[in-house]
Amino acid sequence: MDRNAPVGVFDSGVGGMTVVREIIRQIPDERIVYFGDTARVPYGSKSKETVLHYARQIMEFLKTQKVKAVVVACNTATVYALEEISRETDIPVIGVVEPGARVAAAATKNGRIGVIGTEGTIKSGLYASYLKQLNSSFEVIGKACPLFVPLVEEGLWHDSVTDEIARRYLKELKEKEIDTLIMGCTHYPLIRSTIKRTIGDGVSLVNPAYETAVQLRRVLEWEDLIREEHSDNIASQYEFYVSDSPEKIQKFANSILSFEIHQAHQINIEEYTYDDDRCTDNH
Ligand code: DGL
Repeated sequence: MDRNAPVGVFDSGVGGMTVVREIIRQIPDERIVYFGDTARVPYGSKSKETVLHYARQIMEFLKTQKVKAVVVACNTATVYALEEISRETDIPVIGVVEPGARVAAAATKNGRIGVIGTEGTIKSGLYASYLKQLNSSFEVIGKACPLFVPLVEEGLWHDSVTDEIARRYLKELKEKEIDTLIMGCTHYPLIRSTIKRTIGDGVSLVNPAYETAVQLRRVLEWEDLIREEHSDNIASQYEFYVSDSPEKIQKFANSILSFEIHQAHQINIEEYTYDDDRCTDNH
């Protein structure tokens, strides 16, 4: 495997850029190929079968980019597809759920941990099961917040509508006196200030993106895959692909990254098909 090859990162839309931001902070020399499935977002309300199918198509696309590792920068895809797609490839594949659970377990003092995420992530109970493995006395309270993703995708990060929705969603978690809250969806860190204001200062907010980037660095070191080259033109290290019109991700990336991206490419993800015989459990 070429250690100077890029790392593939994918999400249903623009949310995974919060993970890209952390990877850039921690391993700035790595090249990244990002794919945001903006034509098929949201994943959170879809079935496992559908999300797994999407994830397999994205893996096929990333293979054409010759990536050396993949970060599933989407909690819903981690929950529904990480196990299968990791088994079906030789390169390391990292999800966001396990790193997030580890940080929350270290942060909580009273053992009451809230998890917010998409319907799929909350229904799967995967955060709760990782947390209980770490400490069986933890009380984990999950709350699906399906409207947060479209609000973020629409850019309503500081808006009274988002404030009102947050108040409704987080009411129950406040009553349960949690001291730690996992933002179990990669879109949510973009409305972090609203979530923080609503849930209160006494609650630690966990963004799994940071720990995911730490884990990526560890895996690359372990596999001897850390990039050796250094580019002076930082923007040239990153390639952005989407399945719908590229303008949105460009605007979005430019508002959260520390440099301007000049181009995002649109691809037809439906053209990427996978080998049905290798992926038997879905067919
Ligand atoms: N950003 C994704 C996640 O972390 C999913 C949002 C969605 O597509 O519903 O779960």
